[in-house]
Amino acid sequence: MTTTNLNRITERRENTLHGLRVAITGGTSGLGLALVREFLGRGAHVAFVARRREHVERVARHHPPAHGIVGDVSKKDDIHPIAMQIVGVLGGLDVLINNASDLGPVPLALLADTGCEDLERALATNVLGPFRLTKALLGALGSSAREGRGAVVLNVSSDAAINPYPGWGAYGASKAALHHLTRIWNEELTEQGIAFLTLDPGDMDTPMHAAAVPGADPSQLKRPELAARELTDAIGELLLFMNSERNVPETIR
Ligand SMILES: NC(=O)c1ccc[n+]([C@@H]2O[C@H](COP(=O)([O-])OP(=O)(O)OC[C@H]3O[C@@H](n4cnc5c(N)ncnc54)[C@H](OP(=O)(O)O)[C@@H]3O)[C@@H](O)[C@H]2O)c1
Repeated sequence: MTTTNLNRITERRENTLHGLRVAITGGTSGLGLALVREFLGRGAHVAFVARRREHVERVARHHPPAHGIVGDVSKKDDIHPIAMQIVGVLGGLDVLINNASDLGPVPLALLADTGCEDLERALATNVLGPFRLTKALLGALGSSAREGRGAVVLNVSSDAAINPYPGWGAYGASKAALHHLTRIWNEELTEQGIAFLTLDPGDMDTPMHAAAVPGADPSQLKRPELAARELTDAIGELLLFMNSERNVPETIR
């Protein structure tokens, strides 16, 4: 491929993300914060969610015009207020990224030593939360698809969804459920123009990784900024593909 062709493809991908309305859960730390920055840098309109108000306000202050929303995706009663604020501040929704996550027991524990409450919390955050939030936002995503903008839901996964790592039972089982849920959502809704992705960002230097593996050498871990660029590129590629399939303009403005 010539450099000119490569530049053209990169430019088309960048244009595809410009003006996109993107919601990111867990946007105040690690990968989520890097995603907020990456999408803002590419001209998208961004709303992000996290539980701790002071962190939400700090990130919003430092990243205008991103909109911060305080909420807990593991709590049923928080889901509709979160969804309404997302659609309200963005004026609709094209991309939902379910990134917020719970590690299960910390320090990590074998299943026999895992409290039922720890498993419940991991499932509530990593499976039920994304499920409820996606359901609450399906109308907005469907509108976006019908307008030819393309709609994508990215559920952030992990290699622990596939590999049975001892000590990662609550987290791994919840990520496995999220992974499969995503594939079924995709089968059910892709015809209606809503695509679902599940991607593993890799082992990153973030507070979650430090909590899980306290002795890890950060220099051996992926930078969350790199993972955010890769995930954003994947969403851009998918939207380009969806738009070319539907023969609608590639630029969303
Ligand atoms: N780090 C890794 O090596 C790695 C590897 C594979 C996959 N992943 C996945 O990548 C994603 C991001 O992980 P990370 O390492 O960047 O995590 P992180 O640094 O711990 O950040 C987690 C973010 O989620 C928010 N959050 C947590 N629980 C929430 C809840 N119930 N409701 C709303 N927000 C919530 C946190 O803010 P508050 O605490 O204020 O709510 C924070 O903004 C996760 O899905 C994780 O499973 C990470």
